[in-house]
Amino acid sequence: MGKKIKIGALISGGGSNLQAIIDACSAGSIQAEIFFAGSDKPGVKGLERAEKAGIDTFVVDYGHIIKSARQNMEALDVPEDFDLKAIKAKQHLIPDSVGEEKIAFFLKTRAAAEKKLLEAILPCHIDLLVLAGFMRTLTPYFIDRFSRAVGDRRIMNIHPALLPSFPGTDGYGDTFRYGCRVGGCTVHFIDYGEDTGPVIGQRAFQIEDSDTLETVKKKGLELEWQLYPECIDKFAKELIQ
Ligand code: GRF
Repeated sequence: MGKKIKIGALISGGGSNLQAIIDACSAGSIQAEIFFAGSDKPGVKGLERAEKAGIDTFVVDYGHIIKSARQNMEALDVPEDFDLKAIKAKQHLIPDSVGEEKIAFFLKTRAAAEKKLLEAILPCHIDLLVLAGFMRTLTPYFIDRFSRAVGDRRIMNIHPALLPSFPGTDGYGDTFRYGCRVGGCTVHFIDYGEDTGPVIGQRAFQIEDSDTLETVKKKGLELEWQLYPECIDKFAKELIQ
């Protein structure tokens, strides 16, 4: 195998998608190499998986940053180049109806966390960032600083539903409770909204009368583990050739 692209991963939990990507990289079935796995939560199993594979890890503890800001907003390390008005105008994560104060709190705390993410990520000069079960949205503050040019799409996410249906944090749950007869997963590039960026790949499965939320999640995850490495490889081949 020839040239490989450099990828980094962000996770929040079990890291089974991360594992699928690690396995595909080491089997040589995708033209990529993972340089780090970062988490927004300390102590998660995905970090262990990365360490076991000899991959560098880091944690930016979003929960701690947000809780500390609630206690003392003055102490929040908002980046110097953070422009609330500009980020607010670009983002499609929270509607204006939520109110100025809440939107400002959300964007400032996320930018403080994203500053730390950027400090860990940018020195690695990766080609692609993969969100693998990362349960945080990235704001335009991060996206604009990670991107090399306007419209440069280098951040991928996997979502547990057939987008544009059921965006948000519980795709399989929402699909199942709606009574859908087909569920699925989607890999897409991220943009300034939540689960709204261009679709790269999708896989679908049948939901039978006998299925439960648990079996739906199991069917979906098994497809995620195939789909994510395939989409990364597609990206890698386009970049390399
Ligand atoms: C996956 O279903 C992913 O689509 C969703 O969260 C789950 C994470 O699983 N965003 P894992 O951490 O990769 O095991």
